[in-house]
Amino acid sequence: MDEELLKKFETVYNLNDGREVIFRPLKPKEDIEKLYQFYSTLSKEKNYLRFMSYRRVTRWIVEDWANVDYHQSMSLVAVVDTGETCIIVADSRYFVDKTTGAAETAIVVHNDWQRKGIGTNLILHTIKVAKEMGVKKLFAYVSAENKKIIRIGKVLGFSPKWYPDMGSYGGELILNP
Ligand SMILES: CC(C)(COP(=O)(O)OP(=O)(O)OC[C@H]1O[C@@H](n2cnc3c(N)ncnc32)[C@H](O)[C@@H]1OP(=O)(O)O)[C@@H](O)C(=O)NCCC(=O)NCCS
Repeated sequence: MDEELLKKFETVYNLNDGREVIFRPLKPKEDIEKLYQFYSTLSKEKNYLRFMSYRRVTRWIVEDWANVDYHQSMSLVAVVDTGETCIIVADSRYFVDKTTGAAETAIVVHNDWQRKGIGTNLILHTIKVAKEMGVKKLFAYVSAENKKIIRIGKVLGFSPKWYPDMGSYGGELILNP
């Protein structure tokens, strides 16, 4: 079944320079090292924007993040073949609240791979996958200074929201009402 989902949710995004970026679900065991390399080499600023406070990245934490089941927890990664090896350059994920069917989502694109359309297109892919998987709503908390993701969210149809319980700004997108 997971093999089927892996195939179904794999797609290719072409960069302007012709290079291919594969968007696909994370492979829980196989991708741990790549995921660790990705998160442990993010700049402090990116780490802060992604987690809304600085998060120390350890192998143990990354093993936990890699442990996705594709149903309640999903990670869609952007993978590039450098010629020598394959590296993860972005991770977009969501986690479904079983009682509401809504999922919190978040994304981060590695510093070296920004402004190439990867963020926008990987979020689009995440929306497609979540919709097909029956997720009712995607929502995200973002820092109010994070103008870039707020702009991308608006373009992709997320309605801006203020979450008083979280004391946080964010956005939501209804997928399966
Ligand atoms: C926000 C974030 C995900 C955007 O990722 P990205 O890959 O840089 O996004 P895109 O390339 O799709 O779009 C960003 C910009 O590049 C531009 N762009 C898109 N495709 C491009 C291309 N092929 N060539 C040049 N520029 C391009 C877009 O127009 C956009 O411009 P703008 O910033 O002036 O609006 C990334 O900056 C990030 O990881 N931030 C830190 C974590 C974070 O904030 N996460 C959100 C909290 S959940």
